[in-house]
Amino acid sequence: MNRELETQTALTIEKLPISLEENSGKTVNTVIHYDGRHYDLIYENVYIMPPELKKQEILFWYDQAIQCGDPVLELCCGTGRIAIKLAEKGLQVTGIDSAQSMLVEARKKSTQVEWLEADVRKFNIDKKFSLIIFPINSIWHLSSLEALESCFACVKKHLKPDGKFVIDALNPCTQESIEILCDRRSNLYSVYPDPDGKGTVVVTYSNEFDFTQQIYKQKLFFKLIGQEKETVEEMTYRLYFPQELDALLKYNGFTIESKFGSYARTPFASGSPQQLIVCRL
Ligand SMILES: C[S@@+](CC[C@H](N)C(=O)[O-])C[C@H]1O[C@@H](n2cnc3c(N)ncnc32)[C@H](O)[C@@H]1O
Repeated sequence: MNRELETQTALTIEKLPISLEENSGKTVNTVIHYDGRHYDLIYENVYIMPPELKKQEILFWYDQAIQCGDPVLELCCGTGRIAIKLAEKGLQVTGIDSAQSMLVEARKKSTQVEWLEADVRKFNIDKKFSLIIFPINSIWHLSSLEALESCFACVKKHLKPDGKFVIDALNPCTQESIEILCDRRSNLYSVYPDPDGKGTVVVTYSNEFDFTQQIYKQKLFFKLIGQEKETVEEMTYRLYFPQELDALLKYNGFTIESKFGSYARTPFASGSPQQLIVCRL
C-alpha cells in the first residue's frame, strides 16, 4: 500500500463502527462478496491469509492430486483459484459451485477446467472421481445436519472405490480461533481496486460466534475511500468441531485415513490451526 492510501485507509477505518451493535440499521445483503469480480480482488489483497500460506495451500492440494490421480472434483470451486492451478499441472479437473457470478469469472480464466453450476447438497454428474476436495472452510456452508449428510451422500456416489475425499476446515478449538471468531471489533480485511473503476474499496469485518449452535456470523463492511456510504454483508456459517466431524464422516460411511493440522502436513494435534481430513469409502 502506498503512503497516501495508507493514511486514507487509516482515516476511513477510524470512522468505521467498532461493534456489531453499533452497525444495526445498516443495509445488509450478500451481493458483493460472491460477485466473482469482487471476490478475486478481495482475496488477492486479503490481510488474513499471508501469501506464503496460500502457496502452501496449493502445494497441499497438488500433492493430494498427485497421490490420488485424476479426475479431481472441487466442491464449491468459486472462481477457480485452486481448480485452475491443478488443471495447469495437467490434471483433469471439474469444479462445481452454485453461484453463477463466481463461475462467470472462472470460465473467463480457464477453459481447461470443466465448470458446473450445481449445489453440493444435490449434484449428479455422470462421472466418478479419484479425488474429491472440499477446500478452505467451504464445508461451513452446510449449515444443517441434513445439508451435510446430503453432500456426503453425493460425494460417496461420485467417488471411485479407491478414491479419496479431502476436507479443509478451520479447527475452532484453539485459543487463537476462539479469539478471532468472537472478535466483535472492526478489523481490516482487504483493500482493493473497485472492478468498475469507482476507486479503492476498504473492507473491514467483525465476527460473532454462538457456541451452542456453532454458528459463526461474519459481517463485512465495504466502503469506497472518500465516500460516506457503507454496504454491510452478513455471512452465516456452521463450524465443525474435530470429534464431531470425525464422527459425522464415520457414520456417513467414510474411513479417515489421515488427519493433518496444517498444509505442511503436520499431524493434527491440540493447537493445530486446521483440520485437513483425508478419507476414503
Ligand atoms: C469461500 S468460497 C471458496 C471458493 C474456492 N474454493 C476458493 O478456495 O477460492 C465458497 C464458495 O462456496 C459456494 N457455495 C456456497 N454454498 C454452496 C452450495 N450449497 N453448493 C455449491 N456451492 C456453494 C459459494 O458460491 C462460493 O463460491
